[in-house]
Amino acid sequence: MSDNLFAVVRTVADLRRQVAAWRKAGDRVAMVPTMGALHEGHLSLVNLARGKADRVVASVFVNPTQFAPHEDFDAYPRDEARDSALLAEVGCDLLYAPTVGEMYAPGFSTTVTVAGVSEPLDGQARPTHFAGVATVVTKLLLQCGPDVAVFGEKDYQQLQVIKRLIADLDIPVEVVGAPTARAPDGLALSSRNAYLTPAEREAAPALARALNRAAERLRAGDPVEAVEAEGRAALEAAGFSRIDYFEARGAADLARQGPGPITGDTRLLAAALMGKTRLIDNLAV
Ligand code: PAJ
Repeated sequence: MSDNLFAVVRTVADLRRQVAAWRKAGDRVAMVPTMGALHEGHLSLVNLARGKADRVVASVFVNPTQFAPHEDFDAYPRDEARDSALLAEVGCDLLYAPTVGEMYAPGFSTTVTVAGVSEPLDGQARPTHFAGVATVVTKLLLQCGPDVAVFGEKDYQQLQVIKRLIADLDIPVEVVGAPTARAPDGLALSSRNAYLTPAEREAAPALARALNRAAERLRAGDPVEAVEAEGRAALEAAGFSRIDYFEARGAADLARQGPGPITGDTRLLAAALMGKTRLIDNLAV
């Protein structure tokens, strides 16, 4: 239990007032941005943040600009009462839950785009997604002004995009990447797992299994193209209906690996459709 009262703020002014008061008292502040529908993965980020700062701010904002018109913005699960109870329980100090109007005032015209790391993988599958993420994360960091911000490796490409924009825009914050929290059967925890039917939920761990198998083969020196082909075949066999990618990439720049065995620090990344739900996962090689 936290020894402090948990509070909710909805405006930039109230957020800044609270953070300034903590700063004045000499406290170090951490931020954990989320879109809510919180699960153990999000809460592990809050726990990590608590170890790195005196005060933790979590944000819950379902950001419309990172969803394409055909995507699940309207259907995205929202339950602020449950989210704030969970945050209070794990010792988060403040929930920042702005409205869409607070975040995007009339006349809003600025977009942050990150070239390079935003372009492959999910950048191909979801062409406007990372500009939406980069813009809202830039705003959240400038609104809160935390010393440290925690993001999950679950969204590995997103983490690289955020690291890049923070370096490029000289935003004075330390970024911490947190390991992926998984269900006992290996499925990476995700708010979107709630969309899976029982049969789909049972088939979904094949994604993590395929990544593990591929990582082992790459470590053993097998050629990238054969390992990727086997991974895609395993997903098809498990019932994934569309495979957006199953690829080995450079861990920092996300550059394509191969042909032949991997060279240097490599990350395996995959995205595929299970029923109507798009699942993503990744693994260090
Ligand atoms: P959301 O999907 O809610 O995720 C919020 C944070 O939790 C992200 O940093 C994400 O990587 C992390 N996370 C999600 N599942 C996780 C898991 N199983 N283990 C560890 N961390 C996990 O990512 C977003 O929201 C948004 O794009 C956001 C950055 C908030 C910008 O709108």
